[in-house]
Amino acid sequence: MDVRIDPGGRIAGVTRVPGNKSIAHRWLILAAAGAGRSALAGLPRSLDVRSTASCLAAVAPAARASLEAWARNGGRAAEGHGSTWNRSLEDASNPVLEVEGEGWPGIRPPDRELDCGNSGTTMRLLTGVGAGSPFVTLLVGDASLSSRPMERVAEPLRLMGARIATTSGHAPVRVEGGGLHGIRYSMPIPSAQVKGAILLAGLVASGETIVAETISTRDHTERALSALGAPARVVDGSVRVSAFQHDGFRATVPGDPSSAAFLVAAAALTGGGLTVRGLGLNPSRLGFLGVMERMGIETRFTVTSEGLGEPVGDLQVAPGERILPVRVEEAELPIVIDEVPVLALLAAHATGGTTFLGAEELRVKESDRLTRVADAITDLGGIAAVEGDRLVVAGGGLEGGIARSGGDHRIAMAAVVGALGARRPSRVQGIEDADVSFPGFVETLRSLAGRLEVEG
Ligand code: S3P
Repeated sequence: MDVRIDPGGRIAGVTRVPGNKSIAHRWLILAAAGAGRSALAGLPRSLDVRSTASCLAAVAPAARASLEAWARNGGRAAEGHGSTWNRSLEDASNPVLEVEGEGWPGIRPPDRELDCGNSGTTMRLLTGVGAGSPFVTLLVGDASLSSRPMERVAEPLRLMGARIATTSGHAPVRVEGGGLHGIRYSMPIPSAQVKGAILLAGLVASGETIVAETISTRDHTERALSALGAPARVVDGSVRVSAFQHDGFRATVPGDPSSAAFLVAAAALTGGGLTVRGLGLNPSRLGFLGVMERMGIETRFTVTSEGLGEPVGDLQVAPGERILPVRVEEAELPIVIDEVPVLALLAAHATGGTTFLGAEELRVKESDRLTRVADAITDLGGIAAVEGDRLVVAGGGLEGGIARSGGDHRIAMAAVVGALGARRPSRVQGIEDADVSFPGFVETLRSLAGRLEVEG
């Protein structure tokens, strides 16, 4: 499907974004492995999160019906359960998913291979769950996911005692788990997915599991574990966890800052004032605001509540005038990793050249994002190049043109945002890929006065 973008609309107003995908994966897994009933509101209908729900349905018999319905319908079938227990969490736009857990021993051998779709987080976190389970789990994914590196998660889990075979380093991944013991692991590559997998496995390992990070990554797993009362703590950049079982929780997934980043950038480019409500404001996810600040974009946020260790609140973007060129350092990359595409498209509108250093990791995302983002900028009439592990973007604005998602949700959305500030109308092919993380992306922009038309 194509979307046609006409410049000239000012992205402004008050809005919300779908729930935080990273949190949703983790809370779903924790709910399925809990010994009791959990209730989750605010789950995003994104395809990635549905993949996690569908895989969990295959290994968590007590929760199978609700998880399968969620995976199929993105929550619509879970609406209106009518239980008074969850009523305070529930409203029409925010249905609650109830997950019945029987503890980690209730995680049973799957009767099928687990299809993780396009979702790297699903595959890596579930490799951790499989490692802690005394049976064979086979994890598969789509063509993009099957080309992404899996040894980075297999290696530490093998050290904990799991037997894991990758397919030349990729999916399918065969995991035979059980009998784990804690390890101390220093992360060679900063990765919250790998850290999360080790910590989940650590919940059923003997002794203490310690993950040391030299560059910190998003900390949703450790926050949830601490909030649930687990013996999890962070000491000098190392996360420590020991065996733990909870008996259910109820919480609302806050809005995803990585999705909000597209709207913030669109508002900044088109000169609109924007407020995003109900947003997850975990500091480990707000690195992009620091880069945007250096670009001259003024934002302000207020924390209004907290749920399962995650701060939540509102983010405001002030109307601005111009985008300044910046230099994004290698050490910053892990905390802006998912926002590089949209930051790069913003940079194409800057008053000078921008460089992203040490961005090699972008090559192993849902696509080779280093190349794809440079292509999107050139397809829209700008100048960008990949120089080794750097992405260099010339400023000066975009002419407009035809860009392709290349099967990557973030490239599709970043191109749309870049096109909103272009001089001529543009077209982005493959906009349906946005559903992987931000269902309703085009509709949200339209509701904020974006001039977009889906065609085909
Ligand atoms: C994620 C971590 C990041 C990120 C991905 C989601 C997570 O990947 O790019 O979209 O939920 O843990 P890495 O941890 O591999 O860098």
